[in-house]
Amino acid sequence: MRRLGFLAGLGGVLLAQAVAAEQPAPPEGNPAAGKVAAGLCRTCHGLNGFARIPIAPHIGGEHPSYIRHQLEAFRSGTRQHEIMSVVAASLSDAQIADLSAWFAMQKIHVALKPGVDPHAAPEACALCHGADGVAVLEDAPNLAGENSVYLETQLKAFRTGKRTHEIMSPIAAELTDAEIRAAADWYAAVQLEIDPPP
Ligand code: HEC
Ligand code: HEC
Repeated sequence: MRRLGFLAGLGGVLLAQAVAAEQPAPPEGNPAAGKVAAGLCRTCHGLNGFARIPIAPHIGGEHPSYIRHQLEAFRSGTRQHEIMSVVAASLSDAQIADLSAWFAMQKIHVALKPGVDPHAAPEACALCHGADGVAVLEDAPNLAGENSVYLETQLKAFRTGKRTHEIMSPIAAELTDAEIRAAADWYAAVQLEIDPPP
């Protein structure tokens, strides 16, 4: 029951975010410039954001504000990773905006494996990440087709405090290893395709 009470409290968090969203807008990204800059990212994330190595997440079709926030977090050190911290350190605000616009405009297609019942999705997650792993909340990432090891690592990072977020940290704090594994396996099993870059 604690979780339900917690979710009811999220109304306030989401409202606070909506208010924060009225701050001055960040620079508008230019996707054509982002495509050029994405040459730096393609060996790991693909030019269309479909990851080419298992440890890298798919980033094509994510909401631009999610991509921007993660790149800013790697750059400022609030999120750390041996590769991404180095990559993001050299990006300007304009490049971050351009890259976010480029990867966000990629077209994704997702499908549950044949015979899988969408109602079996982890209920506490589908509210924001969708049953099929396509986020229904602007600041939430898509989880569809991500590698299960990546998803598990991120959830454990939220649980230990290595990665922090006002919504995900308290949610992950209550998850057992088995719940983390089950949620990671569910979303990793979703079939994801991303169209070739335009
Ligand atoms: C050498 C491989 C490599 C390169 C090059 C690279 N990345 Fe990454 N990227 C990763 C890995 C690995 C992660 C997962 C980090 C973690 O585990 O926290 C990641 C994570 C991310 C994330 C977070 C996604 C999420 O779902 O939270 C974003 C956004 C991102 N990269 C964007 C970029 C952009 C933009 C570029 C090019 C400017 C780039 N990356 C270049 C390997 C790479
Ligand atoms: C109320 C909305 C909400 C709910 C419920 C929720 N999430 Fe999240 N989730 C988010 C947001 C927002 C982020 C982005 C965090 C950030 O910016 O670092 C996120 C990030 C994540 C990430 C990181 C993905 C990446 O690409 O790096 C994972 C994994 C994740 N959530 C899994 C889950 C799981 C599993 C559940 C259910 C147990 C869940 N979430 C429930 C909103 C939610």
